Amino acid sequence: MKKPREVRVAMIGHGFMGRAHSNAFRQVGPFMQPRLTPRLAVVCGRNEGAVKEAAARLGWDEWSTDWRAVVNRPDIDLVDIVTPGDSHARIAIAAARAGKAVLCEKPLANSVREAEAMLAAVKKAGVVHMLCHNYRRIPAVMLARQIIESGRLGEIYHFRGAYLQDWVLAPGMVFRWRFDRKKTGSGALGDIGSHSLDLARFLVGEITEIAGELTTFVKEHPLPDDPRRMGRKTVDDAAAALVRFANGARGTIEGTRVASGRKNANRFEVNGSLGSLAFDLERLNELQLFLASDPGPEQGFRTILATDPAHPYVKSWWPPGHLIGYEHTFTHTVYDLLEGMARGRSPRPNFEDGLRNQRVLAAWEKAARSRRWEKVGRA
Ligand SMILES: NC(=O)c1ccc[n+]([C@@H]2O[C@H](COP(=O)([O-])OP(=O)(O)OC[C@H]3O[C@@H](n4cnc5c(N)ncnc54)[C@H](O)[C@@H]3O)[C@@H](O)[C@H]2O)c1
Repeated sequence: MKKPREVRVAMIGHGFMGRAHSNAFRQVGPFMQPRLTPRLAVVCGRNEGAVKEAAARLGWDEWSTDWRAVVNRPDIDLVDIVTPGDSHARIAIAAARAGKAVLCEKPLANSVREAEAMLAAVKKAGVVHMLCHNYRRIPAVMLARQIIESGRLGEIYHFRGAYLQDWVLAPGMVFRWRFDRKKTGSGALGDIGSHSLDLARFLVGEITEIAGELTTFVKEHPLPDDPRRMGRKTVDDAAAALVRFANGARGTIEGTRVASGRKNANRFEVNGSLGSLAFDLERLNELQLFLASDPGPEQGFRTILATDPAHPYVKSWWPPGHLIGYEHTFTHTVYDLLEGMARGRSPRPNFEDGLRNQRVLAAWEKAARSRRWEKVGRA
């Protein structure tokens, strides 16, 4: 067998997503055999002790506290950005200028202007770029898209997306970067609303108009260094919207961090003239399907266990019914990125999708202020 060419990766950041991406880079070769094989070359962080420990724990060859020097190293092929939103643009633009492929965590940026600059940079440099909306790459979600594309649901009328979490309500929840607008751009809106928006665009199409609102229920949290003092939250806890799609479908999209008891319920339902689909991340191996063409007395939602080798990505893993989990969504993402790099093509969602998503987020914020329907800006 021909040995796959190595792609040397530099990952900037090593927190939650750093763990998820490191695992994906380690798993993708043995399980999915992409044409290019990743080498976990350098991990970057701000604190020497922490990044050194992360390099050893997550399996990186080297560590650095200077991401600028690392993205300019000639031996690096791919820069993976897993830092908070306020640093995505400067890292991605520097990486593109240095001729590196770029994988960036969502949302692409903290503003439309930053997202535009990032897209312009990767286009000018002609490098492969990808955005990590990993939920597209769940076999059940890919199957949902195939069913919609086949026309079996008929004309699509509704997309109903809800991404529900409750971690803001955890006792003693301290102030963190996710509550600071300067670091993160927005709250539930950009963090989990952006995932729901990406699924809406993936499954139904472009959003043209939006009416939405944003609410901050828990306005302050104790500071981590001195819990007697409170930090004031500058982002939303909950975001809700009505949307109109270019193809005439209508949607509702909700992202909230204060839905008590809901941990990571990223749900959607799609209703068409001939059938419906429903999905919940907390049961990610399953897809609910209703087809009006089923014989009358047998009609009803059925549960498809999307673990068959015929389902997208599944043949790389286990026999039918041997379930996969959250981490596999990242391995699938990295696989498609490496295949994209082998072909010189940017897989979707890429920075174009990131910019479109960012324009919807911006229109949502505008609508929340104006209390009116707002048009989504176009490039
Ligand atoms: N795809 C998903 O489902 C998903 C899930 C969670 C987070 N995210 C996204 O991933 C990104 C990171 O989130 P996280 O949960 O991993 O955060 P985190 O707080 O767990 O980790 C952030 C990391 O970035 C480093 N960092 C922060 N600022 C930096 C800077 N200026 N330069 C270099 N390093 C810096 C921190 O030291 C830390 O290692 C965010 O964009 C977030 O929206 C995506």
